[in-house]
Amino acid sequence: MSYARITGTGSYLPEKVVTNVDLENLVDTSDRWIQERTGIAERRVVAEHETCGDLAVIAAREALAMADLDPALVDLIIIGTCTPDRVFPSTACMVQNRIGMAPGTVAFDVSAACSGFIFALDIANRFIATGGARRALVIGAETMSRILDWNDRGTCVLFGDGAGAVVLEASDEPGVLSTHLHADGSHEELLYVPWGVGQGYDGLEREGGTIRMRGNEVFKIAVRTLGRIVDETLEANNLTREDIDWLVPHQANIRIIEATARKLELPMERVVQTIREHGNTSAASIPLALDVAIRDGRIRRGDLLLLEAFGGGFTWGSALVRY
Ligand code: ACO
Repeated sequence: MSYARITGTGSYLPEKVVTNVDLENLVDTSDRWIQERTGIAERRVVAEHETCGDLAVIAAREALAMADLDPALVDLIIIGTCTPDRVFPSTACMVQNRIGMAPGTVAFDVSAACSGFIFALDIANRFIATGGARRALVIGAETMSRILDWNDRGTCVLFGDGAGAVVLEASDEPGVLSTHLHADGSHEELLYVPWGVGQGYDGLEREGGTIRMRGNEVFKIAVRTLGRIVDETLEANNLTREDIDWLVPHQANIRIIEATARKLELPMERVVQTIREHGNTSAASIPLALDVAIRDGRIRRGDLLLLEAFGGGFTWGSALVRY
C-alpha cells in the first residue's frame, strides 16, 4: 500500500473583486454586518465568459508546475464542484482534455457541495493506496456567483468563485493519513438549490437556480458536526490536539472556523484563514487555503494538517495529512 503524498498545489481566483461596500448597493446590508457576522470583506466573481472548468485548468497547471510533473503522466483527475460547466461531460473530463492528460485516464466530478474537495481527496487517496492510480489531480472549483440570488442578502454576501488543485503521488513517505466522510440527506430544506433536471420543464420555470439557505440553523449544525469530526479524526489516528500543526478548514464563516479552532485548542495563528479575501468558495476553499499557506511558507514539509469541511447535503468530512 502506498501513501498519497502532496507534491504540488495551485490555485486561481478570477480578477474581479466584489467588496462588501459594492454589495451595499445591491441589498440592504452593511460592510460592518458582513464582517462581524461572517469575517468576509471581499470575494472574487467570474467574468461573463469564465467557467468553472476555466478556473480549474489554471489551478491544475499551477499545481503540476509545482510538482514538476508532465500532465501526460497523471492517471486520475477528480473535481469536487457543485457548479459544473455542464450536466455532462463532467468538468473533470473537459479539464483532462484541456491540460493534456492522456486519453483513457480516469476523470470524474464529485458532488458534495462545500465538502466536495474532501470527498474527492478521499477517493483519490483510495485509488493511490490500492494501486489504481499513481499520480492524481484533485481539484475543488466553483462559480458560486452563478447560483446566487443577488437580491437575497442572507446568501449573496457569503459566496465567491475560485479553484484550488492538489497533485497527489504514490510514495513510501507519509502523505494522506486518514479521511473521514459523512452525509445526512434528511436536512435538504435547510440548504439547497431547487433547480435541477428532476424539476421538469415547469419546475425550471417556477424555481430559480439559486441557493436557498436557512443560515442560522445550518450554522448551529455545522459547529456541532465539525466538533465531532475533529474528535473522530484524532481518535482514529491515536493523536491528541497538540499533534496538529495546522487547521485548514472550509471557509464558510469565521465564527464556525473559530469554534473548530477552540475545540482543537489551537491558536488562530495556526489556522489558515482566507475567508476575508475569498468568501465561501465552496469546494474550492480548502485547496485554495492550502495553496496560499504552502506558497507563503507557513506550511512546511513534515507538518501535520487537519482539513475539514461541512456543506450542502448535508455532507461533511475531514482529512489528516502529513505534508
Ligand atoms: N446584512 C444585514 N443583515 C442580515 C444579512 C445581511 N447580509 N443577512 C441576514 N441578516 C439579518 C437577518 O435578516 C436577521 O434579521 P432579523 O433578526 O431582523 O430577522 C439577522 O440578520 C440575523 O440573521 P441570522 O440568519 O440569525 O444571522 P446569523 O448570525 O446566523 O448569520 C449567516 C447568518 C452568516 C448566514 C450564518 O448563519 C452562517 O454562516 N451560516 C452557515 C453557512 C454555512 O456554513 N453553510 C454551509 C456551507 S454552504 C454550501 O454547502 C453550499
